[in-house]
Amino acid sequence: MQRPGAAPPASPEPFDPALPDGSLERLAADFRRFGDVFALHAVGVETPIYVVSHPDHVKHVLVNARARYVKGLGIERVRLLLGDGLMASEGEIWRRQRGLVQPTLHRRAIGAIEGLIRRRNLELNARWLEAAGRGETLNVTRAVSDLSLNIVLEVLFGRDLPSLADDGSRPFSLLTEEPARDLRFAARFRALREPVRACIRRRRAGAEAHNDILALLMAARERHSGEPMTEEALVDEVMTLIVAGHETTASALNWTWYLLASHPGVEAQLHAAIDAGDPAYPRQVLEEAMRLYPPGWLLTRRATTDDEIAGYRVAAGTHVFISPYLVHRHPAFWDAPEEFRPDRFAAGAVEARHRYCYLPFGAGPRRCVGEALAMLEMETHLRTVAAHLRLRRTDDAAPALDARINLRTRRDLHLLPQRRGDAGAPA
Ligand code: HEM
Repeated sequence: MQRPGAAPPASPEPFDPALPDGSLERLAADFRRFGDVFALHAVGVETPIYVVSHPDHVKHVLVNARARYVKGLGIERVRLLLGDGLMASEGEIWRRQRGLVQPTLHRRAIGAIEGLIRRRNLELNARWLEAAGRGETLNVTRAVSDLSLNIVLEVLFGRDLPSLADDGSRPFSLLTEEPARDLRFAARFRALREPVRACIRRRRAGAEAHNDILALLMAARERHSGEPMTEEALVDEVMTLIVAGHETTASALNWTWYLLASHPGVEAQLHAAIDAGDPAYPRQVLEEAMRLYPPGWLLTRRATTDDEIAGYRVAAGTHVFISPYLVHRHPAFWDAPEEFRPDRFAAGAVEARHRYCYLPFGAGPRRCVGEALAMLEMETHLRTVAAHLRLRRTDDAAPALDARINLRTRRDLHLLPQRRGDAGAPA
């Protein structure tokens, strides 16, 4: 339907483009009121912001008309942190880097690190079993954050990891210890480029063979020119993979444990599937947790040339938001969207849905490059722990949302571990 000259509906309430606390709730309220396409009157932003949530429009922006869009609001902050790494770069630089980085995180390449991921999870499981024995509550948020940080660092740096901090402290621990993502954090994070650079230089100068992602990144050669990455590009990509790979995976696991603790029926079905050696249901649980709480809750784009969405003119410069959180709860595409039902992801059910109504890893050419690693990490974690333990809620309050860069729980989630089958635990 053509609506020449018309602008999408919008609430008169001004919208703060710095995306402060409450932005997600604001988008959700406007979505309930206006539906598939609406605009936001952003303070201090000259061009409008359109929020699109219909899967056809998602496909249009991220796939079919992708050449008309670049990354949008908030990307300057990401660039400040991560330089020209894959997440923030555009055009030729992005294309070249994507070609070099993607094969290093391919399913086949990461298969080799499966053993490491299993070991780290067995260690965590042993600690949680001890806590269960003592009747001690776990800070699950903190534990899964430490786990995913350690895994991404070990996967990247292999045996060089201890040498990244010369005082024996854990390098990059500020990512789990410091919740703020402000300018002070950016400065401290950028200082970590130096030990990464030093590690790359030591490897370049030495002849030792390494079996980790950094080694693959250093060995990667551009298909046409045969050129390797520059030192600066390598540092940018390593920093990008650490940040992009750590908090996202940790948030997904954190929400998964909260949901399982709140849904004993799903938990029982998960236990039965794990005991029977069925890998499908644990995966469905993770997929459904990321539907309700997608860590990457907001994808931002900016039109570089004129476009049209749902008959509305999208002038060059217009900002376009796609929120997987909203798309994943779109009532025209999901039955009882607020309910936690992993069966939605059973074989057959997925094919029957619109392909673009589920996008926890994004879509199109800028889709997540770490999906295979993230899924391997999360499936290993869930299968290892849920084979032995269940986690119980200690209060009835649902966690408040903290939707900044990633969708996190506002407060750390504390759960009580119980050994499966222990007397007193529900069957
Ligand atoms: C559950 C875990 C994860 C989730 C939910 C997730 C989500 C996403 C999403 C939604 C995007 C697209 C952003 C956009 O289009 O604007 C993305 C991109 C990206 N992700 Fe992930 N991610 C996860 C894990 C990882 C891991 C483990 C790594 C690497 C170690 C990683 C590295 C990246 C990179 C480098 C990009 C940028 C790709 C590009 O623009 O070419 N992610 N991720």
